[in-house]
Parts: sequence; structure tokens; C-alpha cells
Amino acid sequence: LRGRAQKLARPIGVGSALAIAPLVADDRYRAVAGEQFDLITPENEMKPQFLQPARGVFAFAEADALVDFARANGIKVHAHTLVWFEALPTWMRSAPDKRSVMLEHIRAVATHFAGRVAEWDVVNEPINQDNPDGLEHNLWYQAMGADYIAEAFRAARAADPNAVLYLNEYGAEQDGGRWNALYALVKKLRQARVPIDGVGLQSHEYDAADRVPAEVFRKKVRALAALGLKVRVSEMDVSTSDQAVQAKQFGERIAVCRQEPNCTGFTSWGFTDRYGSTADANRYPPVPGNALPWTTGLQPKRAHTALLNGLTP
Ligand code: G3I
Repeated sequence: LRGRAQKLARPIGVGSALAIAPLVADDRYRAVAGEQFDLITPENEMKPQFLQPARGVFAFAEADALVDFARANGIKVHAHTLVWFEALPTWMRSAPDKRSVMLEHIRAVATHFAGRVAEWDVVNEPINQDNPDGLEHNLWYQAMGADYIAEAFRAARAADPNAVLYLNEYGAEQDGGRWNALYALVKKLRQARVPIDGVGLQSHEYDAADRVPAEVFRKKVRALAALGLKVRVSEMDVSTSDQAVQAKQFGERIAVCRQEPNCTGFTSWGFTDRYGSTADANRYPPVPGNALPWTTGLQPKRAHTALLNGLTP
């Protein structure tokens, strides 16, 4: 995939979320990851739950191991994620001074990885289309109001001026309330000159209702281009045993990214069915799934062929 993507007139990053456990334990997983991708996202290792288990106590070893693997293989790192309301250590939820906690975390973590990661998901999943302001009223919102989002981006820019800063969201590929709320949010941020560079459209497709046609997706990419924003497919998986449907969705999605000048990259959320997929995301340990371009036996599926074809002008 990486060879095909790099030969494009406008190369795009092609990759997957990776986890440190299989990377260390599974030679085939490590081989495929090292040869197929030029962009990886640590699936969990850079979340607050793992990076700052106690206040002021940082645990970077697992994330650094993933970064070292990437750099040893000429792979860029898309870091995920500085501010979210999930995957938090318990102490963060009960800290009284949430603004200081958020800013300290961003500064310490973005500084630690500065120069070794290319991009950040600064804020993950801030949207809730059921609220009047379209935002999730999470613990950060409750402490600082909607401004926590702008504050997070400013702190990330200050800590790592060279990183490309993204806001990452699910379910906004479709027309509807989540897209409308996301568009309104990022338009406001851009108008306020907040240092946001792009939007990650996660592209999880759990069932038939989630299937997003190429042209519906392209419309979103172009609307964000008009705001001066990059777009990336950040977490694609297509949960279905129908390999024709799965191939169609992956192939069309990466083709739109190849065609649209502001689309910078394509990442699946994992790459092999062996270690499960988002449909079971919160289960631990992960269970085998069916949503990804390689089989549980680490053989390429039709979706992999479709990704290659989608990268071919
Ligand atoms: O590592 C701990 C282990 O030490 C502990 O014993 C075990 C039981 O508590 O938990 C383990 O942590 C699990 C972690 O994955 C690492 O495997 C968490 O329970 C589990 O909740 C966590 O799930 C992850 C989930 O995000 C929540 O952080 C999924 O693997 C991951 O695929 C999923 O990814 C998210 C993106 O970050 C954001 N977009 C949606 C996407 C899918 O939900």
C-alpha cells in the first residue's frame, strides 16, 4: 500500500492503528505493519489513561516503543489523543482543577513527542448532536465550557509547533445532525483563528445503516476544504462478512481521499481481523472480528485489493 500511495502525484499517508502487544508478540503482524504502511496511529498507547496514570507521573515506554518501531521503518506517527472524555485515568475525572490538568497533560505529552510524531488528534469526539450547542457536555466542557476545545488546540500548537493538529470525530461522514454540528464547530474555530489544521472523519461502519456512499463522503471533504481544513480518514473499519461490500467501501473511500487535494491520509482501525475491530472495541482482550483488510491468518482480503486499486489513478 505504501509504495502505491507514495508514487501518487500527491502522495497520501496510508496506514493503520497499531497496538504494542501484537507488535511485540506477533512476527507476521509486525512484518505486515512494517512493509504496508507509512503512517500509523497508536490504538491506545497515547491515551491519557496510559500516559499519565497518576498526576505528574508519566508512563511513555509503550508509546515510545511504537514510535521507535515507526521511525525504524520510515513510518510517520499520527498521535491519538490528547483530550477525550474516555480512556482517562481515574484521578483526572475527580481532579478539581480540570483546566490545569488538561493544559498540563497537553504540554507534557506534546512536548515529549515533539519531533517524533507528525500529527495529533488534539480533541477526540467533542460532538453531541442532541445538545442545543451540538457539543458533548463532557467533564472538560463542564469545567471550561465550549472553550476547552480552542484552549486545547492553542496549548498543543505551543507545545509542538510542527505537528499537524486534527479534531477527530465519528458518524459525521453521513448527512445529518452530527455532520451539521461538526461543521458548525470547526467553522467557528477557524473564524476565531484557532490553530486547527484538519478534521479526522473516523469512518467506522458497523452495519448496513452506516454505509456511506463515496459522493456523500466527498461532499464533506470539499466542505471542509472550503474552510481551509485538511481531512483524513482516521479509523475506518467495515463490519460485515460480505467481502464485496467491504471492498467497495474501503476502495471508494481511499479513492476519494486520493482524488481530493485536502485529504491527507487514510487509516484503518487495525488491519487484521485477528485482533478484533471497533465493533468490540471496549472488550478486553480484543476478540477476532471481520471488519479489516487482512484475515485472522494475516492474508490480504478483497478489501486490501480494493485499497490498492483505489490508490491507482
Ligand atoms: O490495557 C488495559 C488492561 O491493563 C486492563 O486489564 C483491561 C481491563 O480493564 O483494560 C485494558 O485497557 C483496554 C484498552 O482498550 C487497551 O486494550 C480498555 O479496557 C478498553 O476500553 C480499551 O478499548 C479501546 C477504546 O478505544 C477505548 O479507549 C479500544 O481498544 C480502541 O479500539 C477504541 O478506539 C476508539 C478510538 O480511540 C476513538 N474512536 C473510536 C474508537 C473505537 O471505539
